Amino acid sequence: MELREAMRACLRCPALVRTRACVVPGDGAARATVAFVGIAPGRFGGDRTGVPFSGDRSGDLLRRMIRESGLRRVFITNLVRCNPRDELGRNRDPRGDEIANCRDYLTAELAIVRPRIVACLGRMAWRELAGKSAPFDPRNPIPVAARSLVLYPMFHPGYAIRGAYSERLYRGDFVRLASLAASAGGR
Ligand code: URA
Repeated sequence: MELREAMRACLRCPALVRTRACVVPGDGAARATVAFVGIAPGRFGGDRTGVPFSGDRSGDLLRRMIRESGLRRVFITNLVRCNPRDELGRNRDPRGDEIANCRDYLTAELAIVRPRIVACLGRMAWRELAGKSAPFDPRNPIPVAARSLVLYPMFHPGYAIRGAYSERLYRGDFVRLASLAASAGGR
């Protein structure tokens, strides 16, 4: 079965199957220089649009930062492909078992788009991909080499939206990422 079809038919996480409006596969360049990995589609964003980081403030900010930095060949995805909700219907973080259930979809997406750099948006994505012992410090990023690609720590756009990090500094982080992508042979 084609990967997107398999994801859309996925029933691995009963709690997510119950509340999701749709499954949200990764989206972007067929061959990407940079893949961005967030947490999970938001209830006002990807869960409505079917596209990760779209239709909500996090998505708008991420996509604007990408555009303004000059990055072109990007792929955007998440640790999990369904929107996790708490008992009041609000966004919640995905549980460890939900992240584990979705891991092979992420691995398969990355194997197809073959990014040189995987930018982990937030500590949760970073810990999952780089491991707990790798320092998460997007202000002074220490990339981690992983087989054919490099893992790169960045703040989640939600962090800047909450006012915990300035948009000016966030833009600088994307410019630095774009330079790294250019030196890795692409943008
Ligand atoms: N939208 C996404 O697709 N992922 C996030 O982590 C947040 C918003």
